[in-house]
Amino acid sequence: MSSQRTAVITGASSENGIGIATARRFARDGWAVAVLDLAGDRAEVVAKSITSEHGVPAFGHAVDVADETAVDAARDAVTAEVTAGRLPEIGAVVNIAGITSPVDFLDTTLDLWRRVMDVNATGTYLVTKAFLPRMVDSGWGRIVNMSSVSAQRGGGVFGKVPYSAAKAAILGFTKALARELGPTGVTVNAVTPGAVDTDIRVGSTAEQEAQIAGSIPVGRTATTEEVAAAITFLCSADSSYLTGVTLDVNGGSHLH
Ligand SMILES: NC(=O)c1ccc[n+]([C@@H]2O[C@H](COP(=O)([O-])OP(=O)(O)OC[C@H]3O[C@@H](n4cnc5c(N)ncnc54)[C@H](O)[C@@H]3O)[C@@H](O)[C@H]2O)c1
Repeated sequence: MSSQRTAVITGASSENGIGIATARRFARDGWAVAVLDLAGDRAEVVAKSITSEHGVPAFGHAVDVADETAVDAARDAVTAEVTAGRLPEIGAVVNIAGITSPVDFLDTTLDLWRRVMDVNATGTYLVTKAFLPRMVDSGWGRIVNMSSVSAQRGGGVFGKVPYSAAKAAILGFTKALARELGPTGVTVNAVTPGAVDTDIRVGSTAEQEAQIAGSIPVGRTATTEEVAAAITFLCSADSSYLTGVTLDVNGGSHLH
């Protein structure tokens, strides 16, 4: 893959996150990137650093993936860059933006439930819907959605009921959309990481972290680069016959 296509990546600006590692890996593989994040200033900084480090076109813009108006505005901003020739055509959409809910069920509130569902599940729906028509028109595209091992085994890492439910919704979304888009040249897949070394578990205790690492057959949590490699593989030309797949990146912590 050369820089002839742009990967649109949400949730790609937190310093130690999976999104930024994925944006960097796309750039290393020759893709242009559009970095979308709630932290819009930071998204612009990340985009600039990607261009200077990897020499590919990059664009950063604010988005709240749970807000349709904000998603459409971000889509319009990215497509304006494509129309102006500053970014190549959109070839991939990677829905990484997400929030967790490390709260026991009876302590959850409807507001928490809605926010976790909105950012993780509705955000995936809105961003995919906004960018999909261009990929269908061009006859080639890749969508990768960020689920979690929590969807498959009912939490057990850090996110609990709302998070597991939202990430499970993403798996159903992925499979149904893959089926519907089958003939279009656009594939739709999901990744289900186990515990990854990012700031999302910032509130977890040393005891929880030791318990998490001890429960993983390979004996450690994943690096963000290991998750990024799985995502960019699913966006590569080599993955052309994979659609509707759930790709586990969990060090053996959930074996089917
Ligand atoms: N870290 C893990 O152990 C792990 C495991 C499995 C899945 N995941 C998933 O991977 C994704 C990335 O997580 P991470 O660990 O890198 O966390 P992170 O908190 O470092 O990154 C999340 C990113 O999403 C952005 N974001 C949050 N709400 C947003 C919104 N409404 N609109 C746009 N952007 C928003 C944040 O600003 C941040 O840049 C999440 O979907 C998470 O659920 C993480």
